[in-house]
Amino acid sequence: MPQSAVDSPDLRLTLRVRAMRREARDVLSLELDDPAGGLLPPWEPGAHIDLRFANGVERQYSLCSDPADRTAWRVAILAESPSRGGSRYVHQTLRVGDLVTVSAPINHFALTPAAEYVFVAGGIGITPILPMLAEATRRGIPWRLAYLGSLAERMAFLDLPQLAGGDTLLVRGDLDTRLDLTAWIGSPTEQTGVYACGPERMLDALEQLSLDWPRGALHVERFQAKTFGESQGADTFEVVASRSDLVVSVDRGCSILEMLENAGIGVPSSCLEGVCGTCETAVIDGAPEHRDSILTPDERESNETMMICVSRSLGDRLVLDI
Ligand code: FES
Repeated sequence: MPQSAVDSPDLRLTLRVRAMRREARDVLSLELDDPAGGLLPPWEPGAHIDLRFANGVERQYSLCSDPADRTAWRVAILAESPSRGGSRYVHQTLRVGDLVTVSAPINHFALTPAAEYVFVAGGIGITPILPMLAEATRRGIPWRLAYLGSLAERMAFLDLPQLAGGDTLLVRGDLDTRLDLTAWIGSPTEQTGVYACGPERMLDALEQLSLDWPRGALHVERFQAKTFGESQGADTFEVVASRSDLVVSVDRGCSILEMLENAGIGVPSSCLEGVCGTCETAVIDGAPEHRDSILTPDERESNETMMICVSRSLGDRLVLDI
């Protein structure tokens, strides 16, 4: 079994469900605190945590509370249909007072400095955006938010004060006319940070639009893995684990992570889909074929790191700092 972030004693916490609240139809929020009353580790807007439930299922959820509140963390969970076990457990079984195993916060969606921010949230994708709105307001940086939902009753946190700190546009699929995102976003400059989280189709459309924007303007957080075609890389390649002085062979149909694990080299992992970033590994030599849903175009081009749960090699050899 691959190790997850929750398996690492340095990153693992046992927290108590302090409160549960229905935020919208099919959306429950959990407030998690330390049963001993201690302060929780610090985190920055955009961070997520891994939650492992008593049924063994592990999922990542964005923190959506105020980072300044170290007494509790809040996450919000949409009842997925069909559920792969995480959201069903939360909605049907988890109760206030239960303990959950939680990783320390991990951030692959950090709010970088900008002169203005444009936020686009689709449905439950509002969760990582909420602390960003508060932070932008705190820094005095102007921002606009388009919050899109299929139905008004399924849109969580509509009453939160964070939404009032800037220029918020609510687009409720059952009440409002469809938003022309191209027109609404306009033309981002080098000083604009565009942050988006939501359904795959919305993020894919934004990625297309961003081809005409300054490089690096768009930052996205995906809950689902991007769809890739067949690998264009080598069918079989060697991976040198430089720190362990081991070489493993990776065939089509196996991941680098699996083959390293089989050779006794454990790498923390969680989603196994290239979405969470837990397995990010530094590349010393070789050309990765990036098949993850996290790295930005610049990060891909630099080839400094790769997600070894899904990414492969273009050539016949990769050297990893592991
Ligand atoms: S385990 Fe999540 S990106 Fe690799």
